Amino acid sequence: PPATIAVQDLAGKAILITAGPTYEDLDPVRYLGNRSTGRMGIALAEAAAARGARVDLVLGPTKLTTDQNGITIHNVRSAREMHAVSVLKWRQADAAILAAAVADYRPSRTEAGKIKKKDGPLTVKLVRNPDIAAELGQEKKPHQRLVGFALETENGLENARGKLKRKNFDFIVLNSPNDKGAAFGHTTNKIQLVTNNKVTDFELKTKAAVAHDILDALVQEL
Ligand code: CTP
Ligand code: CA
Repeated sequence: PPATIAVQDLAGKAILITAGPTYEDLDPVRYLGNRSTGRMGIALAEAAAARGARVDLVLGPTKLTTDQNGITIHNVRSAREMHAVSVLKWRQADAAILAAAVADYRPSRTEAGKIKKKDGPLTVKLVRNPDIAAELGQEKKPHQRLVGFALETENGLENARGKLKRKNFDFIVLNSPNDKGAAFGHTTNKIQLVTNNKVTDFELKTKAAVAHDILDALVQEL
């Protein structure tokens, strides 16, 4: 049994969480991806389930997973697959936390056969993927709460507030890749929670502890 039983302050709540990278296929063996491991999103799913929530975890391709009770995992590969499941689950959700590193672009076509090399450069045309966050934000009902993530290399606060407004988030989790031991590939993270008129700074912590800080803020909003 767990050493501590979390307060059941998310009992009866349905929470959608997106996590991990997306892979955008170029051909049957190659794809465009990114360095997200899904660790922060999985930590959020585990923390939310421990606090009594029913969690739908829409998880991009990663070797990490969870078998904790209360979490339904939907394994997806591309942004478009993640989009389809997320839109469906959002209708029944009380809140969503969008921790996935969704590819902004995909190859305009996926070749049926392996691309053969030729002399000279190869040009690949990329087209925009759906913005899952913006769409959920647009369809957000008054009782629903939407939490976004941002990782910025410059003008963090300004960019985060732009996304907060554009995507209709209730608050945004800002992490800077400049912080040592934070974000991609690490087991720890250092965040700021950003609303229109407030910024709350947190210490460097394990992703599990960071998850509980984020959920504390969400519970206040629900
Ligand atoms: N997001 C999403 N779907 C996308 C892109 C982003 O749901 N197609 C979500 C991310 O999961 C995150 C938030 O939107 O919660 C911000 O992602 P980010 O990549 O920082 O924002 P973008 O609008 O894509 O802007 P940028 O040009 O800085 O990448
Ligand atoms: Ca992006």
